[in-house]
Amino acid sequence: MSNKLILDTGYLDGFVSGKDLEGIFSEVEKAHSFLEERNGPGKEFLGWMDLPADIDEGLIKKMEETSARLDRESDAIIIIGIGGSYLGARAVIEALSPHLVNRKIFFAGCDLSCDRLADMLDTLKDKDISVNVISKSGTTTEPAIAFRIVEDFLKKKYDADKLKRRVVCTTDRERGALKAMADKKGYETFVIPDDVGGRFSVLTPVGLLPGACAGVDIRGLIAGAKDQRERSVSLDIDENMSYRYAAIRNILYRKGKRIEVLSNFDGRLRYVGQWWKQLFAESEGKDGRGIFPASCDFTTDLHSMGQLIQQGERNLFETFLVTAKESERCPIPRCDEDLDSLNYLAGKQVDHVNRKACEATAEAHFEGGVPNVTVRIDERSAFCLGQLFYFFEKAVAASGYMLGVNPFDQPGVEAYKRKMFRLLGKPL
Ligand code: PA5
Repeated sequence: MSNKLILDTGYLDGFVSGKDLEGIFSEVEKAHSFLEERNGPGKEFLGWMDLPADIDEGLIKKMEETSARLDRESDAIIIIGIGGSYLGARAVIEALSPHLVNRKIFFAGCDLSCDRLADMLDTLKDKDISVNVISKSGTTTEPAIAFRIVEDFLKKKYDADKLKRRVVCTTDRERGALKAMADKKGYETFVIPDDVGGRFSVLTPVGLLPGACAGVDIRGLIAGAKDQRERSVSLDIDENMSYRYAAIRNILYRKGKRIEVLSNFDGRLRYVGQWWKQLFAESEGKDGRGIFPASCDFTTDLHSMGQLIQQGERNLFETFLVTAKESERCPIPRCDEDLDSLNYLAGKQVDHVNRKACEATAEAHFEGGVPNVTVRIDERSAFCLGQLFYFFEKAVAASGYMLGVNPFDQPGVEAYKRKMFRLLGKPL
């Protein structure tokens, strides 16, 4: 089938053998049983596995209606959130949104940059604004501060009734300050399910509502994830690409490849890389273990990071993220003088050059001692992005179990917060 996600493993010779794959198979089996029988560590957070199949038509319609209203009544929509309540939405929007060009969507609460927030509000001072604030706990510092400031900004523009139409909260069903605030002020709410952790929540209203606000086909995203879910149930690693990828990563890790670089060849997939980093870092990096996930945007980073990847310490492997269909939107023109000597490319697409760069990079990096695999989606579409999200989610779950950790907790992220709250004098 043409729109199938492919894992191409052509550049592993000498690094991962058939025997290695046989050797690790019992661990794939164990991970599979943890997931399918739902009896492994973190089993209470497996809600993401069924999201694409179980999502309710009523919820999809509600997201479509709310997003259509916000879009219709606003010049700009601010999405407030951080981490798992931000990166999936941003990945979807950067990859797919037709609004990307007209900059209708803004992000806030994803850092503590004072000037960025102030600059955004300056830019938006004469515009009609709506807000989708996203926080599962409802208490995370960055989005809570941003929401307080943005809400204050909106209160100066709109009376309480108008404000109600312009603020939508995505949060826990019943707990947390954001839920309490939404109830008190009459803001519309969407629920983040209890059994879905932040980094696995892109296919809930966390990622879908902002995507819909940005004009993305969210039904396509869900359909793609559902398709990939069906392709990810087999224990056979020749069929189940998530398990194959998880097995290869763990084999490479045990052979000293401690860093994985996810490299895209399309800048619009940049935030898929950011989303992927959170998914893998928070799921695997604990108990003194974990592959360090890094990401690159090629060809841009071939002119910088490319040097280290080609010739630096041989402690890394690479995963390329590419699309199969060539884009035909930017042909290279012929030029009579040919002063830049580019006529040999005249009539070819920019994307053709990009593809050759990709092929060349995979081969050169392999020859330089960097084993690599390629994850190939058919095209940059909602369906294929949905496939990709589910592929990586299933892979990290299996990979984390193979690494011997609980892939669904993140106790380490609290350490700096405790110190920060003490420094800020937060009341206990
Ligand atoms: O994965 C995680 O748990 C974190 O990245 C959270 O998503 C992030 O801290 C935001 O949390 P919340 O949605 O509670 O505001």
